[in-house]
Amino acid sequence: MIFSDEIIKWYHKNKRDLPWRNTTNPYKIWISEIILQQTKVSQGLPYYINFIEEFPTITDLANASENQVLKVWQGLGYYSRARNLHSTSKIIRDDFNSQFPTEYKLIKELRGVGDYTAAAISSFCYNLPYAVLDGNVSRVLSRYFAIDTPIDSSSGKKMFKELSQKLMNIEDPAIHNQAIMEFGALMCTPKKTDCSICTLRNSCKSFGTELVELLPIKSKSLKVTKKYFNYLIISSENHTYLQKRTSGIWNSLYQFPLIEGEFTEDQLVNTKQWKNLFIGYPIIEKISTKIKHKLSHQLIHTSFYHVKCDAINDSNFFKINWVEIEEYPLPILIDKYIKSVILHK
Ligand code: ADE
Repeated sequence: MIFSDEIIKWYHKNKRDLPWRNTTNPYKIWISEIILQQTKVSQGLPYYINFIEEFPTITDLANASENQVLKVWQGLGYYSRARNLHSTSKIIRDDFNSQFPTEYKLIKELRGVGDYTAAAISSFCYNLPYAVLDGNVSRVLSRYFAIDTPIDSSSGKKMFKELSQKLMNIEDPAIHNQAIMEFGALMCTPKKTDCSICTLRNSCKSFGTELVELLPIKSKSLKVTKKYFNYLIISSENHTYLQKRTSGIWNSLYQFPLIEGEFTEDQLVNTKQWKNLFIGYPIIEKISTKIKHKLSHQLIHTSFYHVKCDAINDSNFFKINWVEIEEYPLPILIDKYIKSVILHK
């Protein structure tokens, strides 16, 4: 029990005061855990505050439109999280009488909730003894016990899961889980770890060795694919055209007409898509410099073509007045460009 006691002691001295730590309201904890799934606390905190302000209860969320929810999420990325929150809130309103489930098994069945999030919600709201395991926790355990099994291999996942569960302090699951997460986020950090101030150093098997830098081991390295986007900002009088995406990571967000591929200007205007899109004589008024946008698995090179044209074949697009554009949830890449170039020129 030394590990849990030590880590809880450390936590009480060092924890950050975060709003989701002052509540056991399952709706609020669920929102915070979904936001924090792929997001650092510093980035997620303002989104959490804003989200709860916009949708204070699960029924407020369920009664909102998908566009409203995505607009509040705009800029946070991994938009399936927002779509899942919204669809789940409607299920809870309609099938669960607006009551959040109270059992681990039922919580885990909610869309977008995996082992980690189910354990976090069950322990923080209901003090159920389910240990959390994510990248942070695996790093702490792999260093503390000097385990070199890759944390992303199937045997590694199983072993770290069993170990984290064995270490769980069943007297206080909520604090145990918060403590180990916070310890991973603030003390046992991925890089530039300062072990000299760590209160667990005397019992840590990696302390004082090169293992601190080498662990945890990961078997897979992330492959980043390159993509080339050419967005067409078509103006005719006060209007432009948008399209709702129906797949991929930006599913349900809106964008300008897109031609994908690595093209020069000459090549682009000779593509089938370009020729099929425009009626009459489009005039290219400006082309942006290439903008690079990094996502976890993709590096997107984007050019914005400003095109003047009176008519297009618009079956795939819809016309909007320029003043309405900020009402649509947009990939942040597009939103930033509009703000810097078009709305504030
Ligand atoms: N990361 C994931 N869940 C968290 C939480 N509840 N507090 C701080 N960081 C987290």
